[in-house]
Amino acid sequence: MQMKYAGILGMGFYVPEKVLTNYDLEKMVETSHDWIVERTGIKERHIAAPEQATSGQALIAARKALEDAGIEAEQLDCIIVATETPDTKFPSTACVLQDLLGAKAAAAFDLSAGCSGFVYSLSVANSMITSGLYKHILIVGAETLSRIMNWKDRNTCVLFGDGAGAAVVGEVPEGYGILSVEMGADGSGGKFLQMPAGGSRKPASHETVDNNEHYIFMDGSEVFKFAVKIMASASKKVMDKAGISIEEVDLIIPHQANTRIISASAKRLHVPEEKVFVNVDRYGNTSAASVPIALCEARQQGLVKKDGKIVLVGFGAGLTWAAVAMKWWSK
Ligand code: UT7
Repeated sequence: MQMKYAGILGMGFYVPEKVLTNYDLEKMVETSHDWIVERTGIKERHIAAPEQATSGQALIAARKALEDAGIEAEQLDCIIVATETPDTKFPSTACVLQDLLGAKAAAAFDLSAGCSGFVYSLSVANSMITSGLYKHILIVGAETLSRIMNWKDRNTCVLFGDGAGAAVVGEVPEGYGILSVEMGADGSGGKFLQMPAGGSRKPASHETVDNNEHYIFMDGSEVFKFAVKIMASASKKVMDKAGISIEEVDLIIPHQANTRIISASAKRLHVPEEKVFVNVDRYGNTSAASVPIALCEARQQGLVKKDGKIVLVGFGAGLTWAAVAMKWWSK
């Protein structure tokens, strides 16, 4: 019998001011607005200012989440930042954020699970709260993907955007909050989505820079096939674990990579498209930030309300996947 339940107490998100449209991209690479919309659903994305790093975006989202939750930074026990674009390899961006927030009592670490990072973090935070280890955990999905994008590669540069989404996780009344979690990985697919150089295997050198190996490399069609399969199966598993049927779910919030992936997964799940939240058209794929940004917007639009049952589901580099089923709680 579960003694404690963990849920989201407050949320916030941030996207940089600068908007890059498909028409802007037409001037940069051989592409067209129509191709991008037809193949991905993306119309525009936000791009960080030169002086902005991932921690700066995370800070704005985190402050909003703390205010929404009605708690002070000093009350945080732990900060988890899910990102593939940390400010630096080390120290972690979570430690930078801890200092910026003045969250002196908080432990801090980054979590690397690609675009599944926020849902992974929520699962980790759930365990830390329900075990009684911590009371308040700040989880953030934040990315400055524009810094690792090859702006000459049309296969990738039209897909991604920058942004951050944050949530304060804490105890909620019995039966509310996180009902079940599902996390998984298939490391054999790592080669399909990676930054080849800059780590211990291939340290940065003139050669790696000349070969464009510090940018995102992706085999789009392999990731596409994996994504459709895993989004449907992870959602199904997490609903089964929670003992809820697809009919009982009010809203599915999937990782926002591509409307075709989202539609194909919805079809596999036999769920009507109006039950699946989409905002990839305005933000592109913001990796670990996409699920929390989508959840914030869905809540702002009144689609996520007290007692509502929702499923968050992500997939990404690793390859990884994660899903969480929740019964939404609010005061
Ligand atoms: O968060 C996880 C990360 N990633 C993803 O979720 C992405 C998963 N994959 C995808 O979303 C899709 O595979 C893409 C949107 C990346 C590509 O769509 P696709 O329908 O799989 O297209 P494709 O890769 O089969 O390429 C079709 C054609 C190719 O031309 P050829 O070889 O047939 O002559 C590409 O060179 O489209 C070409 N192409 C473009 N054309 C215009 C690729 N990118 C572009 C572009 N503009 N930006």
